[in-house]
Amino acid sequence: MSTASTTVNTPTIEVCHGPQCSDSGGRILAGELEALGLKVCAGDCRSQCAHAPLVLVDNYMISKATTDKVVERLKTLQA
Ligand code: FES
Repeated sequence: MSTASTTVNTPTIEVCHGPQCSDSGGRILAGELEALGLKVCAGDCRSQCAHAPLVLVDNYMISKATTDKVVERLKTLQA
């Protein structure tokens, strides 16, 4: 007897914890995303410091990231 299996594709949300992104609110943003129940991981500097804070959702870069921008990206992936 076989059982149906489902694959849950949870996007990876990586918030840059480099110095420029942290100074620009990256760590606060990470906390806001976690407060929404999202799993967030800390990322290293991606040399995109001029666009801080930087967030990657499944390696899609979001410059000058905000909670709204990240949520919008997640909705796009779910559509
Ligand atoms: S510190 Fe975030 S991209 Fe450089």
